[in-house]
Amino acid sequence: MNKIIGILAGSLRKESFSKKIGNTLIAMAPQGFEFKIISLDDLPIYNQDFDDDNQVPVTYTTFRKEVQAVDGVIFITPEYNRSVPAVLKNALDVGSRPYGHNVWDSKPGAVISNSPGNLSGFGANHHLRQSLVFLNVPVMQQPEIYIAKSNELFDENGELKSEGTKEFLHKAVDAYIAWFNKNVS
Ligand code: FNR
Repeated sequence: MNKIIGILAGSLRKESFSKKIGNTLIAMAPQGFEFKIISLDDLPIYNQDFDDDNQVPVTYTTFRKEVQAVDGVIFITPEYNRSVPAVLKNALDVGSRPYGHNVWDSKPGAVISNSPGNLSGFGANHHLRQSLVFLNVPVMQQPEIYIAKSNELFDENGELKSEGTKEFLHKAVDAYIAWFNKNVS
């Protein structure tokens, strides 16, 4: 049976470069693996009152089940004000609760950050890693995956046109699969 890896992009924007990177990865899944987008588009902001069984939104339950069902997770984060966009932090929070039911627990992970600028979302990349330590996600250390000039990489159909970035992402996926195989329980 295929191992399933969830791909989560931290942007709601229709033309998001993070989403485009995620869509590009799907075709890069090697034999024995399936890469699957887990959408954050309909996830309301976390409210601890929702931990009450009578108030939990259906969208939370669906999202938690989706994460629970995957074997590993790849996060693609843009950078907002040198940190993780709220939509992605919110997804981490929703998946971490109610207390004692952390759906991220032990799922081998990778972080890809990106930006139209040259710093490639470095700040977001490392803030995200801080939360993932607490959530007990073993995150691949190397290679670090930073993608700069995200606004120049895709054609009008959303296809990755940069051969260099394609090759870089293939190598990153290979490294992640090796990391996954080492860390899967
Ligand atoms: C940004 N952007 C940005 N870029 C960056 O390199 N460092 C930053 O700190 C920020 N801060 C920031 C804050 C806010 C509120 C917005 C809306 C944008 C620009 C950002 O990288 C750019 O909009 C990306 O295209 C967003 O990612 P998606 O939506 O293309 O995935």
